[in-house]
Amino acid sequence: MGLTDKDSGHEWWRHAVTYQIYPRSFADASGDGVGDMLGITTRLPYLRDLGVDAIWLSPFYTSPQHDHGYDVANYCDVDPLFGTLGDADAMISKAHALGLKVIVDLVPNHSSTEHVWFQAALAAGPGSPERARYIFRDSPEGAPEGTPPNNWHSVFGGLAWTQVPDGQWYLHLFDSSQPDFDWRNPEVGDMFVDVLRFWLDRGADGFRVDVAHGLFKEESLRDQVVEEGETPDSGAQTDTSMVERTLRDEPMWDQPEVHDVYRRWHQVLAEYDGDRMFVAEAWTQTPESMARYVRPGEFSQAFNFAWLLASWSAAEFSDVITGTMDALRPVDGSPTWVLSNHDVVRHVTRYGGGAVGLARAKAATMTMLALPGSAYVYQGEELGLPEVEVADEFRTDPLFIRTGQGGRDGCRVPIPWSGTAAPYGFGPGSGQPWIPQPDDWADLTVEAEEADQESTLAFYRAALAARRTFATTAGDDVEILDAGSDVLSFRRGPVTVVLNCGTDPVALPDGEVFLASGPVDGKLPADTAVWLR
Ligand code: GLC
Repeated sequence: MGLTDKDSGHEWWRHAVTYQIYPRSFADASGDGVGDMLGITTRLPYLRDLGVDAIWLSPFYTSPQHDHGYDVANYCDVDPLFGTLGDADAMISKAHALGLKVIVDLVPNHSSTEHVWFQAALAAGPGSPERARYIFRDSPEGAPEGTPPNNWHSVFGGLAWTQVPDGQWYLHLFDSSQPDFDWRNPEVGDMFVDVLRFWLDRGADGFRVDVAHGLFKEESLRDQVVEEGETPDSGAQTDTSMVERTLRDEPMWDQPEVHDVYRRWHQVLAEYDGDRMFVAEAWTQTPESMARYVRPGEFSQAFNFAWLLASWSAAEFSDVITGTMDALRPVDGSPTWVLSNHDVVRHVTRYGGGAVGLARAKAATMTMLALPGSAYVYQGEELGLPEVEVADEFRTDPLFIRTGQGGRDGCRVPIPWSGTAAPYGFGPGSGQPWIPQPDDWADLTVEAEEADQESTLAFYRAALAARRTFATTAGDDVEILDAGSDVLSFRRGPVTVVLNCGTDPVALPDGEVFLASGPVDGKLPADTAVWLR
């Protein structure tokens, strides 16, 4: 299959709903309290029945798990915690047999300090070709002892540099266990093409590319320019505080050279059959810079974090839709929509928690599912899971460990499958899993929700089924309708969507309501969305 086919506009991923699996927390077959590959394989029929088209698995590669797999020691093997390569093969074939595509997570910005290359770099010493695969630097000339090469801070807090015993420093935009590769060294690019081929050959349908905007740093490694009194930080990309972010100087992110890498990868993917795809995790500062990642010949898609970062506001949602479509049009890019993932506070909680948060979460999800392009759903959102207040002693996120606050553990609590007490069928044992589940989740299990026609799960199944009938044929045009300041309304093909972000019920336009996120009785209540035709 050649490039022409790939760019034909009919690829599966353009309209797909992809379900994100966080392997540690999805299903535990071995009973050690941590999810695994066999657990995933066993639960795949559930995902087929949910009505998604694809799964994306967060990393399951060999890793010391300092950042739960985003610190990779071997890109071409499975960590024993999750199983074996054979288990991964079995998972991929079962998914394919069920009609599900499989997207794996590729982490090219950094490896683990336990990667053989980094171990060799430490052993080889300053100036060696081994060190040249990472970003090792000395303190600035004449600077007092202990001065790092520049003022950059880690996304997880603290300095972005760690000093090794011979005095050199290595750069890590994340945890000190995650040294950044030097992508200006061609060996690095060649290694990753081999990794791509390794997983493509095993049947992966695509890649989610971690920190896709990070690979290249401004070559001078100059200081970040910050406002007086402001601490440099690399951009709070893994925190919802990013909502507040204004445009800033970011010499560590989104450098033009990064696009050469993706043009090369596009060519590699195009050599394979079956419309293999790749999606960028690129926390860029504007929709226009996001659009550069999906220019022809680069990524298939990029996550649209603007949608996730919008607050509960019809005007904000409307701006994101318009901004997204306007930015993508010139590059003929395919839109994506996402509300939750393993890095952010779950959207039920972001929208206020409790019954109101859940109603809003369902309404926002339904709105997203009507938009052109593809959608990403994070495990557990189909059950309406809220963010969990995890006790400090169970927090393992490096963000928490480095800063003593916050962290992403609360959205990573293991999935409740069945029963009335922890581990709610997550694993075969009776003990709490790696992050304890709350004791009030009995009504949120898959089993309980499958038995309840009014459950969030029943709602997701209905919404995904309804989407299926029109997503591929409704076209990509969205017309935003004038519906007052508290109401978002748009038309796409035969469907009109109305979302009430205000506090009072509003009149509905003419049409037959064929999907609603909550009870609708003549008028559209607050915190509710409908699809009409
Ligand atoms: C991405 C991942 C996040 C991880 C970070 C470093 O943002 O989504 O979970 O911690 O990259 O790899």
